[in-house]
Amino acid sequence: MKKRVGALAAVIILLLCALVAYHRFPVQTKGTFFSVFPLLAWVSVDQPVLFNHIRHKETANLTCSFCHRYVERHRSAGIPNIDLCRACHSTDALSKKPEALKVVKYVQEGKEIPWKRMYELPKFVVFPHWVHIQSRVDCSVCHGLTGSKERPVKMVDRNYMAWCMDCHQKRRASIDCYACHSS
Ligand code: HEC
Ligand code: HEC
Ligand code: HEC
Ligand code: HEC
Ligand code: HEC
Repeated sequence: MKKRVGALAAVIILLLCALVAYHRFPVQTKGTFFSVFPLLAWVSVDQPVLFNHIRHKETANLTCSFCHRYVERHRSAGIPNIDLCRACHSTDALSKKPEALKVVKYVQEGKEIPWKRMYELPKFVVFPHWVHIQSRVDCSVCHGLTGSKERPVKMVDRNYMAWCMDCHQKRRASIDCYACHSS
C-alpha cells in the first residue's frame, strides 16, 4: 500500500515538474522538457492537402529552395503557388493517392490551395531568412522535422525571443533590440 502511494506521489511530482518546465520561459527548461519528451516537440497540422515533404525530397528529388524560392535572397521563404504544383500534378500520372488527386483537382480548377501558416512571428519582429541561409544555418535547426515528415508538422519546442537570442549570443550575431525589432 505504502509503496503504491509513494509511486503515485512520484508520478504526480514528475507530471508537475513537466508542467512547470513546459510553461516556464527560459530556453534551458523548455529544452530539457523536450529532450525528455521528444515526441511532444511537434504537433501535426491539418492542412487542406496533407503535403508530404519527405516524399518530395526523396522521390521527386527536390531541394527546399526549389519550392520555397525566396529563402536564399529574401526575408520570407515563400509558399509555392498552384502553378508550381501544376508542373507535376496536372494529371494523376505521378501519383493516384487520394491526397495527390486533391491537388489535381485544385490544379484543374485553377484554384490556390488555402494553406494554413504554421510558422509566423508577430508583426513587430523582423526575421530575414537570407541572412541565416547565407550563414549556413540549416533549415532543420529552426523547422525541426517539418521538412522531413509525411504530414505537415509544426515544432512547438521553443520560445522564440529567448531562442533567437541564445543562438545570436553563441554565434556572435547581433543582440541589439533594433536588429530584430525595427521595421
Ligand atoms: C514540392 C515543393 C516543396 C518542397 C521541395 C519543399 N516544400 Fe516546404 N512546403 C511546401 C508547401 C506546399 C507547404 C505548405 C503546406 C504545409 O504547410 O504543409 C510547405 C510548408 C513548409 C513549411 C511551413 C511553412 C509555414 O506555414 O509556416 C516549412 C518550414 C517548410 N515547408 C520547410 C521546407 C524544407 C526545410 C524543405 C526542404 C527539406 C522544404 N520545405 C521543401 C512545399 C515544398
Ligand atoms: C517536380 C515534380 C513535383 C512537383 C513540382 C510537385 N510534386 Fe507532388 N509529387 C511528385 C511525385 C513524383 C510524387 C509521387 C511520389 C510517390 O508516389 O512516390 C508526388 C506526390 C504528391 C502527393 C501524394 C503524397 C503522398 O502521400 O504520397 C501530394 C499530396 C503532392 N505530391 C502534393 C504536391 C503539391 C501540393 C505540390 C505543389 C506545391 C506538388 N506536389 C508539387 C512530384 C512533384
Ligand atoms: C534561424 C531560423 C530559421 C532558419 C534557418 C530557417 N527558417 Fe524558415 N522560418 C523561421 C521563422 C522564425 C519563420 C517565421 C517568420 C515570420 O513570421 O516572419 C519562418 C518561416 C518559414 C516559412 C513560412 C513562409 C514564409 O514565406 O516565410 C517557410 C516556408 C520557411 N520558413 C521555410 C524555410 C526553409 C526552406 C529554410 C531553409 C532553406 C528555412 N525556412 C530556414 C526560421 C527559420
Ligand atoms: C541557429 C542560430 C540562429 C538562430 C536560432 C537565429 N539566428 Fe538570427 N542570425 C544568426 C546568424 C549566424 C546571423 C548572421 C550574423 C552575421 O553574419 O553578422 C544572424 C543574423 C540575424 C539578423 C541580422 C542582424 C544584423 O546584424 O542586421 C536578424 C535581424 C536576425 N538574425 C533575426 C533573428 C530572429 C528574429 C531569430 C528568431 C526567430 C533568429 N535570428 C534566430 C543565427 C541565428
Ligand atoms: C534576435 C532577435 C531579437 C532580439 C535581438 C530582441 N528580440 Fe524581442 N522578440 C524577438 C522575437 C522573435 C519575439 C516574439 C516572441 C514570440 O512571439 O514568441 C520578441 C518579442 C519581444 C517582446 C514582446 C513580449 C513577448 O515576450 O512576446 C518584447 C517586449 C521584446 N521582444 C523586447 C525586446 C528588447 C527590449 C530587446 C533588446 C534587449 C529585444 N526584444 C531584442 C526577437 C528579438
